[in-house]
Amino acid sequence: MAKVVIFSGAGISAESGLSTFRDAGGLWEKYRIEEICQAGCLSWNRENTLTFYDARREQLASVKPNAAHYALSKLHEKYPNDIAIITQNVDDLFERAGCKDVLHLHGFLPRLRCEQCGATHLIGYTKQERTFTCKSCNGSLRPDIVFFGESAPMYEYLYEAIQGCEFLVIIGSSGNVIAMDHFALHVKISILNNLERSDAINERVYTKVLHKKATEAMDEIVGDVERFLEQ
Ligand code: APR
Repeated sequence: MAKVVIFSGAGISAESGLSTFRDAGGLWEKYRIEEICQAGCLSWNRENTLTFYDARREQLASVKPNAAHYALSKLHEKYPNDIAIITQNVDDLFERAGCKDVLHLHGFLPRLRCEQCGATHLIGYTKQERTFTCKSCNGSLRPDIVFFGESAPMYEYLYEAIQGCEFLVIIGSSGNVIAMDHFALHVKISILNNLERSDAINERVYTKVLHKKATEAMDEIVGDVERFLEQ
């Protein structure tokens, strides 16, 4: 069981050029969740929903991992059994920075999932061909993304990881979708790194709060984790 959990959200990929969701100018200011990312959208608004995720994949192809992804991948490589990398992000920037075993809580953008049998198919950054069907059962395919109102099967592994965790690092999440304060209360040491304060987070429950860009906070975070694991 990993002693350190590094939990990230959209803020860690912001410096790569991917929009966050709830900051000023974020994705949910430009799009309506209930039209393209809510349970049922694929039934009543399928084409617009698929087009939205085609655009996200196209954008993902044009960006690169940033220094925070690289620093955490290197740290994870040094302590693979002691650190769990868990993210709400659906991008593949940790993987492209060399990170193995990333737990994606909300799905994975370069992948489609069969609506019938659940088999997954990697399509990289390409558009979803509307005629593609599942290679296993011929069922219809959808983006492998957890929509609002759908179950998130990977949460089980998040809760399991938190049970065994002593040191929690949270980077770039507003706490609106996954409330994290009670995780911080459960562990010995917790670091929160967000560019700005969020109404959904009680910063008093964290051992350390860093209001700066993830890339600027990285040296301190990596140093603290290394000291903890070496003691
Ligand atoms: N470095 C660190 N933090 C940053 C940076 C940065 N460069 N830029 C922005 N942030 C912080 C913001 O201050 C904010 O607290 O990142 C957070 C982004 O919050 P959200 O946009 O709400 O993203 P997130 O918490 O990951 O959203 C959770 O919502 O719509 C869903 O499924 C989607 O996984 C996503 C979930």
